[in-house]
Amino acid sequence: MSRVVVISGHPNLETSYTNSLILQRLEQGLADVEVRRLDRLYPDYQIDVQAEQEALKAADLIILQFPFYWYSMPALLKKWLDDTFSYNFAYGAAGDKLKGKDLLLSVTVGGPKEAYSALGYNHFRVDELLKPLEQTAYLAGLNFRTPVVTHSMTYIPGVYNTQQAVEARAEEHAVRLISEVEQLLGAPEQHIQRFVTQWFAQFDRLPSDASYFHGHLAEDVQLHMPEGVFTGHAGFNDWYAQARATFKPDCQHQIEQLEVSAAGEQFRVQLRIRLLADTFAESAFNGAALSLLVNETWQVTLDSAEQVRIHSYQVTPVNTEEHAA
Ligand SMILES: Cc1cc2nc3c(=O)[nH]c(=O)nc-3n(C[C@H](O)[C@H](O)[C@H](O)COP(=O)(O)O)c2cc1C
Repeated sequence: MSRVVVISGHPNLETSYTNSLILQRLEQGLADVEVRRLDRLYPDYQIDVQAEQEALKAADLIILQFPFYWYSMPALLKKWLDDTFSYNFAYGAAGDKLKGKDLLLSVTVGGPKEAYSALGYNHFRVDELLKPLEQTAYLAGLNFRTPVVTHSMTYIPGVYNTQQAVEARAEEHAVRLISEVEQLLGAPEQHIQRFVTQWFAQFDRLPSDASYFHGHLAEDVQLHMPEGVFTGHAGFNDWYAQARATFKPDCQHQIEQLEVSAAGEQFRVQLRIRLLADTFAESAFNGAALSLLVNETWQVTLDSAEQVRIHSYQVTPVNTEEHAA
């Protein structure tokens, strides 16, 4: 499995001075990377959706590498996005295939940095213009990472820049990008963040077999829940049985805030979760549809195999809205 997949959205890398160089450096500099050059794979713009979805499923980190075209992405990359991020893949009831992966935009921009400001001729910052992609990431459950952007990348002989100058900037861009990727894949905090997303994807399904949860709970875990305190795997089972009798499966745990910080040997995970769930008629909520907002604080460790283990798990309700079924 390639941990990093790079989707190159340049429509013609034969004419590129900067994207082609950055892609070359990524292939040389990263151990486990697959570069997908959309211009070569799909010169006719007919995207092989299954192949693209398989490549994304196999990756931990997705990089979209593209030149800024009309304050956005090139049409080829937009077509790729429209086709690949389909219902029940990137969104919808079973659309959890990208959840917990990292998304990193790597963008070459023609205009200079000062032009991208309220008083500049482009009026908006690049991060503002990239908001549609940021929101796309949120909807798909991808972790949107700070984009790597380099300005003044247009080379038009005798008009803008020199080939040497844009290539030097592309080299610097590649160094920054590779160091960002290494940090993202290596940092324990990022690993725990990815785990949190997978954990809630399991909770959305409320499976009868609780072995996934047991695998990540310490034997003596303390669960401080609104319903009381539960200890160990047996305690978890008692609480989980109540949860399964209350909430219908295919609920949604939306991660509204997530912060992981080191605390000695352990890590503290602070979360704000919104649970959208239908309830069973026999439950305390009498079949109402719920929107439940909670704060959670976990203490976790990472073992030598990078497995996350939860030692304490505290859930504090913020508010609950009930809607008649
Ligand atoms: C169709 C087209 C649209 C472009 N639109 C923008 C733009 O909106 N803003 C900008 O700063 N540069 C724009 N540029 C410049 C490109 O971003 C720049 O040439 C590119 O990043 C250089 O990458 P390359 O050397 O890999 O081709 C545009 C270029 C083309 C061809």
